[in-house]
Amino acid sequence: MGASNLLLIFGTETGNAEELAEDAGRIARSLDIHPTVMDMEDASLGDLSSSKRLIVVCSTWGEGDQPVNAQDLYDSVEESEDGSMEGVNFAVLALGDTAFEFFCESGKEWDVILQKKGGNRVNERIDCDLDYEDYAEDWIRTTLDLLKEVK
Ligand SMILES: Cc1cc2nc3c(=O)[nH]c(=O)nc-3n(C[C@H](O)[C@H](O)[C@H](O)COP(=O)(O)O)c2cc1C
Repeated sequence: MGASNLLLIFGTETGNAEELAEDAGRIARSLDIHPTVMDMEDASLGDLSSSKRLIVVCSTWGEGDQPVNAQDLYDSVEESEDGSMEGVNFAVLALGDTAFEFFCESGKEWDVILQKKGGNRVNERIDCDLDYEDYAEDWIRTTLDLLKEVK
């Protein structure tokens, strides 16, 4: 695989999603995938629509809300034209806490909107409760293998 060929974006308020995205980046490099890890605040609609492989790592805040750093990017995808995510092969890792009514809601929203705008889901979303390290890593490895197959 060539130069940067995987975009990993994170939506976070207290750093868990960022840490997981960085972990996913390290695993990707060990598999000879060349990721770019980005804060959602620094990513544009164009960054997403032009990426062939995309992993979204996003927590949920408030009562089922996007993290502050994720809201603008989410809105711009939601407001984008139909088909804006065509050619984007994606998967979503959602972080949350089952103690809350709207468990992993913002990750669920990302998963829906990316497909609605024409993206291709390569792996089922994973909804992570507080103790997620081991199963999140298994999901990351499976997802990277699937993304590596994308031509
Ligand atoms: C004030 C507050 C509100 C939260 N609201 C939700 C929620 O509505 N749904 C959910 O699944 N998790 C909720 N969480 C849990 C966080 O999503 C979870 O702790 C996550 O690991 C935080 O990741 P981050 O550090 O990347 O932001 C909330 C946590 C706090 C402290």
